[in-house]
Amino acid sequence: MLTYLDHHASTPCDPAVVAAMAPWWTANPANPSSRLHRPSLEAGAAVDIARHRVAGALGMADEAVIFTSGATEANNLALRGAAEAALERGNPRRRLVTLATEHRAVLEPLAWLERHGFPLTVLPVGADGLVDPDRLAEALGPDTLLLSVMAANNEIGVLQPLAAIGALCRQRGVLFHCDAAQAVGHIPLAMADLGIDLLSLSGHKLYGPKGVGALLRRPGVALAPQQLGGGQEGGLRGGTLPVPLIVGLGAAVAGA
Ligand SMILES: Cc1ncc(COP(=O)(O)O)c(C=O)c1O
Repeated sequence: MLTYLDHHASTPCDPAVVAAMAPWWTANPANPSSRLHRPSLEAGAAVDIARHRVAGALGMADEAVIFTSGATEANNLALRGAAEAALERGNPRRRLVTLATEHRAVLEPLAWLERHGFPLTVLPVGADGLVDPDRLAEALGPDTLLLSVMAANNEIGVLQPLAAIGALCRQRGVLFHCDAAQAVGHIPLAMADLGIDLLSLSGHKLYGPKGVGALLRRPGVALAPQQLGGGQEGGLRGGTLPVPLIVGLGAAVAGA
């Protein structure tokens, strides 16, 4: 029998989640965007339930949820989307700030933005994996657009002090993005209480399916879509909704 001990990389899909997904592969293959027949409306209702579950787990309204293919895409949408929206709106803030211990799904899009006119500050962490609050406060100047700090580290599991970081961001007028891929479903996270503006999660880190995740966005946070297409997800992420995966994500979040 296989002894699998690498849950930070990926968790097994819960059999109850697999069962919840089953009807949406073959029994009802409808596209929820069709809205012309009953199967489509039923698929749409299943997506609505999943959206409500994901939103509820983070203490947000349903409208906050943008379904994606995982945390990598959610991070790209959050970081590149917020930077592009700032440019479009003439927001003079450009600086991006993050920690050296972030996942590459944060560091790579930030490095791309640095090459395209957004200065980047990468702060070190201490031996305990935590950011020094004084250095962080110093880094968040009047030119800072966004700070990205993860909730739980994917290698050593350290939990950053999100509430204190969120309060600092609010005080400085800085957007706070949190890659919570390793935290959602494992520890309680109330986005508004923690001052988080944008939060990324991934289904396969919480006993759900691979290939689905979400970006949660506080109302009013400007984002430019990074994938254009059929106008799904309020025009912020084009592409036919993967109903079985979204239902699975909802079931995984509800069962966590
Ligand atoms: C902290 C963190 N962010 C982002 C990701 C990327 O998630 P996904 O591969 O599901 O897009 C991972 C997965 O390894 C992760 O641990």
